[in-house]
Amino acid sequence: METRPPTPNQDAIIQCVRSRVGPDAPRVEQVEVDGKKYWIKRPEKLNWRFRLQKGSPKIAFERERAAFHDMNGYEVPVPQLCAEGKDFLVLPDCGPDLRTLFRKEKVEERRHALLMEAARTLGVFHKKGFSHGRPSPKDMCRSDSGVLMLDFERYRQKNNTLKGQARDLVIFAFNVIAHSPNVRGSLSEAMEVYRGAAPDGTWQLSSQWCRRMRWAKYLVKPAQWSEGNRSKEFKAIPQLFDLFAGKA
Ligand SMILES: Nc1ncnc2c1ncn2[C@@H]1O[C@H](COP(=O)(O)OP(=O)(O)O)[C@@H](O)[C@H]1O
Ligand SMILES: [Mg+2]
Repeated sequence: METRPPTPNQDAIIQCVRSRVGPDAPRVEQVEVDGKKYWIKRPEKLNWRFRLQKGSPKIAFERERAAFHDMNGYEVPVPQLCAEGKDFLVLPDCGPDLRTLFRKEKVEERRHALLMEAARTLGVFHKKGFSHGRPSPKDMCRSDSGVLMLDFERYRQKNNTLKGQARDLVIFAFNVIAHSPNVRGSLSEAMEVYRGAAPDGTWQLSSQWCRRMRWAKYLVKPAQWSEGNRSKEFKAIPQLFDLFAGKA
């Protein structure tokens, strides 16, 4: 778990960020400064149609910045901000993301162990009183000091509640079911691991929410027959409900 603030060369990092500004600058990119890897993140540039769908990129960027300000300085499994400006954040490299590792790791026991670590990390994060907003193995990285959580564009202080954490848990499980078939079978065990680390009551709230939503299972039936990512997500819904009903 990253707790000690790193001591990067701020001036060199900021110089690097400035040197890469431009219309073609990627929104998220890895750079190297003084032999160390960092990631620069900038606000998304959206056309009006996507702005209507996704909301203001500036607000999302400020949410993420607020998350790091709220969490850095506490023992929370997130990286320490290395540098920031009005239109950029810089984080240390946190290693490969877990969705990629679940896909690439050949040894089943190692994939299983990684999923348990992810679940424990989410539990610890919640126990510290925070909620993420949209946790996914894609936004959890395996750093040298353990799993760290990233991508706080959906963070809101007012969701740092049991209810917000219960929603996090459902979203996390949903993302594993939909996008990481290699570890799906270990999810109920991962939920036990989560419960061992998390505040009392989150699991119960998640289960209640899924019970109330069970009718959605029937609504999404036709969508499950189509191909592609959307259908993977629709197909995940019945499995998600079974998991929180203790049947998976
Ligand atoms: N500090 C970091 N360390 C390692 N990987 C990172 C880091 N920051 C971003 N990434 C990688 O880039 C991806 C996109 O970054 P993210 O903050 O999730 O942006 P987006 O809002 O586009 O999803 C992440 O899923 C992760 O794979
Ligand atoms: Mg992301």
